[in-house]
Amino acid sequence: MSLPTYHSISDTNDYYAKGQLAPERPARCRHKKFFRLIAASTLAVTVFYGLQHVSRTGFPHIFRTFCSKSLHGSSTQLPSHYTLPSGDKIPSVALGVWQAGKGEVGAAVQTALKAGYRHIDGAWRYGNEAEVGEGLRLSKVPRSEVWLTSKLWNTFHAPEDIEPSLDESLYHLGTDYLDLYLIHWPVAQHEDGTLNTELTENPYPTWQKLEELVAKGKVRNIGVSNFNVRRLQNLTANPLKIQPAVNQVELSYWNPQPELVKWSKENNILLEAYSPLGSSGRVKDSLNVPEVKEIAAELGMTPAQVLVSWQVQRGNVVLPKSVTPSRIIENLRIARIPEHLFNKLGKAAASHKPERSVDPSERWGLDIFE
Ligand SMILES: NC(=O)c1ccc[n+]([C@@H]2O[C@H](COP(=O)([O-])OP(=O)(O)OC[C@H]3O[C@@H](n4cnc5c(N)ncnc54)[C@H](OP(=O)(O)O)[C@@H]3O)[C@@H](O)[C@H]2O)c1
Ligand SMILES: *[C@@H]1O[C@H](CO)[C@@H](O)[C@H](O)[C@H]1NC(C)=O
Repeated sequence: MSLPTYHSISDTNDYYAKGQLAPERPARCRHKKFFRLIAASTLAVTVFYGLQHVSRTGFPHIFRTFCSKSLHGSSTQLPSHYTLPSGDKIPSVALGVWQAGKGEVGAAVQTALKAGYRHIDGAWRYGNEAEVGEGLRLSKVPRSEVWLTSKLWNTFHAPEDIEPSLDESLYHLGTDYLDLYLIHWPVAQHEDGTLNTELTENPYPTWQKLEELVAKGKVRNIGVSNFNVRRLQNLTANPLKIQPAVNQVELSYWNPQPELVKWSKENNILLEAYSPLGSSGRVKDSLNVPEVKEIAAELGMTPAQVLVSWQVQRGNVVLPKSVTPSRIIENLRIARIPEHLFNKLGKAAASHKPERSVDPSERWGLDIFE
């Protein structure tokens, strides 16, 4: 049996504390055997003197004491969730499932939920929602404890097409509601893939239907993805009943978008960082960035953990994708980067020409990001 160990994301958060999950080991607690021994004795003593005195944060606090050197004290905490305008708490790290193939994504979801993930970022378009749903069911983690996101595909933006597509996602996922539903792209297409210019340039009718689906209880929160500031301003210039809670965009070392991060904070829209590792095509480059490697070595983290942590420390949700069990576990173990290193990484990321990993503009015949 593995021992309950310190949770590296946060100890102040009731979301994880309430759950039955065993918190993760910190990324940088190096002396594992010694740590386990101490943890075991501490646990035994704690049990002996009465578990009733162990508060919600008792275990993490106790274990942090033994890790404080490598974790540089209590300043290592990053938020494990953010609170949306609806009051719902969205976990700050999700498992992304784009390009997670059939036959592997179900196992990845199970691994993730076992490891402590409580947020899966999916989409109708990924074509794997049935297997995601099956993974969720097999994990035995209650639906109510998991944050499920799906996205409305381009060809279903017409108001009458939205609910049937949502129902399909719900059916495949095996649930009767989504925690978050996003407009996948600011691009409305006809069935044959040609551009619906009117609905692309004015997504208000699409949004109104999403608002209706919230009222109906099929969706708890709504947002957008791949929207730039102009498109968001155009949408929110309408008399919305519900403001977009989230904008899911590409945020990586290669495309850090500091202005969008700043604007979104000022406008109370939470950003979700997709392709945080540079997506499949550039993950090697990302993990080899000198500043990333340097920070990783200094903190005893892996380069991937530095990049995932960096996004949360910038105030964003982060959506690393992996179907590899060790990486899935690795990516959840995030920790705060000391200020001077955090700034160094931000500077390095902003000092080269921004490059996108994902941009179907040409294929779809419009300048999506302008
Ligand atoms: N809204 C949108 O339009 C949009 C667009 C793109 C992505 N997204 C979302 O964001 C998620 C993540 O983006 P992404 O899939 O483009 O790319 P990503 O998460 O930046 O990178 C995924 C790649 O990194 C590898 N990897 C993961 N963890 C690793 C680690 N610790 N060490 C080494 N390699 C690691 C994965 O390999 P293995 O899987 O083989 O382990 C995979 O090849 C997507 O799954 C999706 O949910 C949304
Ligand atoms: C958004 O832009 C479209 C296209 O330019 C325009 O027709 C629409 O009126 C704009 N919406 C608002 C609320 O300004």
